[in-house]
Formats: sequence, structure tokens, C-alpha cells
Amino acid sequence: MTSFGAKLALCVTLGVPLYALLRQTIRRSRRLRVLPRAKERVLVLGASSGIGRSVAEQYAAQGARVCVVGRRENEIQAVENACLELRTKHHADNSARPAIGLVADFSNPEDMVRVRQELENAWQGVDTVIVCAGASALRPVMEIAREKSSGKGYPATDDVQRTVDVAIAAERANYVGPLVSAVTFIPLLQSTSVSPSILLVSSLGAIVPAPTRAIYGSTKSAGLLLYQALAIENPTIKFSFMIPATVEGNFRASAVDAGTVREADPNQFGLKREDVAQRCIQAVDFEEKAIFMPGWGKITHLLYWLWPSAIERIAMRKYNFTHQ
Ligand SMILES: NC(=O)c1ccc[n+]([C@@H]2O[C@H](COP(=O)([O-])OP(=O)(O)OC[C@H]3O[C@@H](n4cnc5c(N)ncnc54)[C@H](OP(=O)(O)O)[C@@H]3O)[C@@H](O)[C@H]2O)c1
Repeated sequence: MTSFGAKLALCVTLGVPLYALLRQTIRRSRRLRVLPRAKERVLVLGASSGIGRSVAEQYAAQGARVCVVGRRENEIQAVENACLELRTKHHADNSARPAIGLVADFSNPEDMVRVRQELENAWQGVDTVIVCAGASALRPVMEIAREKSSGKGYPATDDVQRTVDVAIAAERANYVGPLVSAVTFIPLLQSTSVSPSILLVSSLGAIVPAPTRAIYGSTKSAGLLLYQALAIENPTIKFSFMIPATVEGNFRASAVDAGTVREADPNQFGLKREDVAQRCIQAVDFEEKAIFMPGWGKITHLLYWLWPSAIERIAMRKYNFTHQ
């Protein structure tokens, strides 16, 4: 290589990561400068457990005002109390209604408009919306269809309908919920925040196909693509997408197809929910677009198009899936 070529390669190797780091640092300081944590008003949809609960508690511990939303009343009350306690422990200020708990379904327009009214009344707006709620589905599609016929004959009308019902339940949680939330809160964010942000918790299953996750992955994929396009249509709002692999917790226990876990124990091998939550908050602060956890998730997406059979084999192994 000529000495000019070597210098150019060195400049690119050092310059590109340095530029990216500098750009992110400037962006971070920009959001926190115009919107310090103590002034930030955060809405977490799907906060009664898991990643959403941890996001809410971490924001509260840092002094932000948080509104937590979910359908289970007892859990929402508990998270509201925890957020109040964390806030008082770390920040003594008495801003009006520093933690709000609301029982609501994020796929129900009436519920979300009610949440918006509460936020307008209590805080006169919102700065950060974390869309965390979602539902799992864990079974191979043809297993759902053949559930009643024990694998014999062609699926009857009832069998096809059962499969459709499962897909509709997953779609309601993973696509309609994010849609209702976006339509309800985008105008409020735009008109009331100096630095409006939305983060969608998606999944690696939304961008890399996996057996037993056909319905889950495809409905999460629809939600992700919706938000990616909304980001282009609404450039005044910063959109971030958290794309984690398996996370610890009870997410799979409420699967809409009543499926069971086939992979290695998520509570032993999955990502820690606190780590995912912390990275969500950082992504919003840094105005990052897509965050993969772990980082190799980004490569699996690219690899699928370059060498699909390798990814298919890895996915089959991960989910202990064999063809019948
Ligand atoms: N766990 C994983 O392995 C994993 C991996 C990748 C991505 N994700 C994504 O991470 C997100 C959070 O999952 P998690 O692991 O934290 O599971 P989780 O503990 O089951 O949390 C899900 C939350 O969503 C809420 N929710 C579900 N449907 C809702 C609805 N219609 N309206 C309002 N709230 C609703 C649940 O509360 P209520 O039941 O009280 O309504 C709960 O608070 C999901 O979007 C999931 O797709 C999870």
C-alpha cells in the first residue's frame, strides 16, 4: 500500500469511530441540556412488570416524573408506589404528581385518549414515550392449526380460525397497541415537549425469522416497520428502537397461544431486564435510532440475507425445533 493509502486507511479507521462518539456525546448533552431529568415527563406503556417496570423505576430514581400504564391494577399500583419512593429517596423536590399509575389497555383508543387527558391535566404534556407492552406467541403455526386433530388430516375451518384468532391476539398487542399509542401521543409530544422522543421495545425476532416465533416475530415486525416509517413522517420527534434477544422474566408465561418455552431457560441465559431498561434510557438520551442487545444481533440481520441457511440452522437449534 502507498504511504498515502496507509494514511487514508488510518484516518478512516480512527476517524469514523471518533466522529460517531463525538456526534453521540454532543447529541446527549443537547437533550439533557434542553431537558434535564428533573423536568422530563415520561410515559411508560406496559410498565406493570419486566423491562417497562425497570425503565419506569430507573427514570424515577433519576428524578424524572413517570406515568406507568398496564392492565393489572395491583401491579400498576405497586409500580407507582415504588416510583414515588425511589423519587423521594433520591430527589426531595415536590413537583405535582411525580408518579402516576393508570390502568389502561394500550390497544384501546378510549383508554389511550384517557391517559393523554390525564397527562395534559397533571403535567401539561409529555416528553418521552416508552412503548414497551407486547405479547408473546410460542408455538409453530401448524401445531396451533393441528391442535385438535392430533396431526391427522387437513385443518378444518375451526382449526384455521383458531390460528387466525391467535394471530389477531398477537397483532392486537404487537401492532395495534403501538399504532394506537403513536396516533394518540405524537401530537401531544409535538405540541408540549422541547425534545420529544419515542422508544419502541421491539425484538430480534422481528428482524430474524425463527421457528416457533412465526406469529410473534411477524407481528413485532409489523410494529417495528410502522415506527420506522413514522420516524420519517414525523422528523420533529426522535424515534429509537430497542431490539433485544431473549430477556429474563415472565413474558412467555402469558403467550397468546398458551405455548411453552423450548429454548434454554431465559431466566438463566437471557439478558437482564435492568440492563435492557438502562440501555433504553441511554438510547433516548443519545437520540440513537436502533439498539441491538447483544450487539451481534445487528450482524444476524445482515447474515440472513447473505447466508440464510446458516441463520435458519442456528434458529432451529436455539428453539430446539425439529421437523416432524
Ligand atoms: N422477554 C423477552 O425475551 C423479550 C425479548 C425481546 C423483546 N421483548 C419485548 O419486550 C417487551 C416487554 O416484555 P417483558 O419481557 O418486559 O415482558 P412482561 O414482563 O410480560 O411485560 C409486558 C408488559 O406489557 C404489558 N401489557 C401487555 N399487553 C398490554 C396491553 N394490551 N395494554 C397495556 N399493557 C400491556 C403488561 O402489563 P399488563 O399485563 O398488566 O397489561 C406488562 O407490563 C415486549 O414488547 C416484548 O415483545 C421481550
